[in-house]
Amino acid sequence: MNTDTNVYWHDHIVSRAQRESLNGHKGCVIWLTGLSAAGKSTIANILDCKLHQHRIHSVVLDGDNVRHGLNAGVQTLQQHHDEEFSQQFGLGFSATDREENIRRIGEVAKLFSEAGIIAITAFISPYRADRDRVRKKLLPGEFIEVFVDTPITICEARDPKGLYKKARAGELKGFTGIDAPYEFPLSPELVLLSGEKSPDILSYEVIAFLEHNSIIKATR
Ligand code: ADX
Repeated sequence: MNTDTNVYWHDHIVSRAQRESLNGHKGCVIWLTGLSAAGKSTIANILDCKLHQHRIHSVVLDGDNVRHGLNAGVQTLQQHHDEEFSQQFGLGFSATDREENIRRIGEVAKLFSEAGIIAITAFISPYRADRDRVRKKLLPGEFIEVFVDTPITICEARDPKGLYKKARAGELKGFTGIDAPYEFPLSPELVLLSGEKSPDILSYEVIAFLEHNSIIKATR
């Protein structure tokens, strides 16, 4: 029981093992982390497509998209809520807001994983402590930290949304890699060299990891 709120935990009748058996593969969280424009969303989507083609149940949780809904910012929330509510619950890019962003995503990804689904997340998630907190909430082997290791020079050259340019010009404060930190993973399960290899090849590297660790059956 949660002693603060008199909330009780209920065990479900259908077990995780039964759900995984029905799906024919295990659930897990593939946690892509890296700089903005490192290639996280592209890899996540290609990986999702390949898994889907193999009849594997997966879902993508993407930084920019989730920040339109579950983790919307103050201005988006103001369309339906008053100023006070929006200020209290809207998320921006301060260290605390990023912590809450990652906490919520971690909880959602956990729900998917427990339902036997492969949750692929694509968030900068720049702070080690935030990522480690998610890892600790999951079972051993369930959290697969994938460092999308792209040099900032390449991310900046790509700059698909023009945000690096804005940050360099001082028009955008607290931008990861420019004037906000990115703490790279110390022992990730996988490192993807997105500056050197195509997203297609990199998504196969993730699939090989899943096969090797018996999360999915051999696809080839
Ligand atoms: S995280 O740091 O909290 O994990 P998240 O992945 O959700 O970030 O969102 C990152 C996206 O928000 C970037 O790809 C970029 O498009 C946008 N963005 C806007 N402001 C910032 C900022 N200050 N730092 C990083 N990304 C930002």
